[in-house]
Amino acid sequence: MIKAYIFDAFGTLFNLDEGLLKHIEHPAAGDILAYARTKQLSYTWLNSLMQTYRPFSEITRIALEDGCKKYNAPIALADQLSPLYFEPTTFDDVLPTLEMLQKSSANTGILSNGTHEMLQSGIEKNGLSDYLDGVYSVDDIGVYKPAPDVYEMVTKALSLQANEVLFSSSNQWDVAGAAAFGFQVAWVNRGGVFRESITKLKNVYEVNILKDIVKITSA
Ligand code: LAC
Repeated sequence: MIKAYIFDAFGTLFNLDEGLLKHIEHPAAGDILAYARTKQLSYTWLNSLMQTYRPFSEITRIALEDGCKKYNAPIALADQLSPLYFEPTTFDDVLPTLEMLQKSSANTGILSNGTHEMLQSGIEKNGLSDYLDGVYSVDDIGVYKPAPDVYEMVTKALSLQANEVLFSSSNQWDVAGAAAFGFQVAWVNRGGVFRESITKLKNVYEVNILKDIVKITSA
């Protein structure tokens, strides 16, 4: 029985790509963003392993700066792009899904690497606050996904067993972390990409559109 529907933020509910690409005119725009995204993630993992936590807004700024350096773009571009992480849009299937869940008695929430400030800004810009019961940020514990302590924030706050939570994420490494913790997990594969070996865990379900998560009923 699923008692809580918890969502990853960036790439799952929040779409950054549209806004970022619109604001960047450099010929290597796509490469800069792809490089920055890879570095952003690896810096979260490095900072967690080194126990030198820095907020996601700072990590994002540094990763964008490195993307600019790598592709010989002005560093000013990083200053221009980092505020856009506070102004994401949502994917088209997000609001209909949250509307459906609001009609059920299940608890809903976001569990993200983003700071509370980043998350609140995205929630408000997209009118999602009425649909979310909780917002859980790694900023409260100083370690990034996929550390089990992150997923445990939800089970502790809601007094639930891990398998009573359905966690949805489009990031395969986050899916793997959440499944290893014991959540039921929906891998949101909007792009139809291949399933990496790390996500071949038994409590992972694949959906191509977010609202199909309501069809997942039990372990
Ligand atoms: C998050 C990133 C990992 O919102 O997507 O946690």
